[in-house]
Amino acid sequence: RLGRLQIEWSLDSTNQWLLEAPDTPCGTVVVAEHQRQGRGRRGRAWVSPLGANLYFSLLGCFQGGPANLAGLSLAVAVSVVRALSAQGVQDLGLKWPNDILLQGKKLCGVLLELQGEAGGPCRVVCGVGLNVNMPPTAATDIDQPWTDLQHSLAQPISRQRLLTGLLDELLPAMARYEQEGLAPFLADWRRRDAVAGKPVQLLLPQRTVHGRAAGIDAQGNLLIERNGCQESYCSGEISLRTG
Ligand code: BTN
Repeated sequence: RLGRLQIEWSLDSTNQWLLEAPDTPCGTVVVAEHQRQGRGRRGRAWVSPLGANLYFSLLGCFQGGPANLAGLSLAVAVSVVRALSAQGVQDLGLKWPNDILLQGKKLCGVLLELQGEAGGPCRVVCGVGLNVNMPPTAATDIDQPWTDLQHSLAQPISRQRLLTGLLDELLPAMARYEQEGLAPFLADWRRRDAVAGKPVQLLLPQRTVHGRAAGIDAQGNLLIERNGCQESYCSGEISLRTG
């Protein structure tokens, strides 16, 4: 349930803001028009120019979990895809663990940050950055193939309507994940999997694994086929292998 909706002109990072506000009620959503230090996964920056895109974080509270935060991030990505397709966005795909792609290019990223202990009472800050109308000048700082909604939609799209649709999907999804885990999200994730069956490389802290992506298991781990065996990975960064 939505606790409080707070809209700010400019913040360092909506995730950071919630992490530093320990008394904020569960279900609080904070939105910023601009982030000075938007954060991406793996210590990257998230390009967050003023008034063009959506940057928001919501605070989920869990009583006895989630033991598996990685699975939650997949459930969040599925919820974003459900909300966007309900608003007529087509050709959406998912790249493990939680990149949302449009026509194969990154449209939206999800960053979950945990406070407390996984498996015990904890707060999860769930940050979503959605490219709606990226100014070309800002885009020069993006280090991967990207797109925005405006590029691929005939009509302009209202950020307010988008946000409402996203929250309507995301807030119940957090509660559902706590009760039922990844199961109610698995089929949609697999249907949208943009890399299954393709040759990929998985970047791990100490090494790189080459193989063929083979979808995800019931916990949300990435499956890779290598030398005739299937291996599962719970972290890392995949890219398609071209060579
Ligand atoms: C990724 O690297 O794909 C995750 C990007 C997450 C960006 C969002 S924007 C709102 C929230 N605040 C942040 O600082 N990051 C997340």
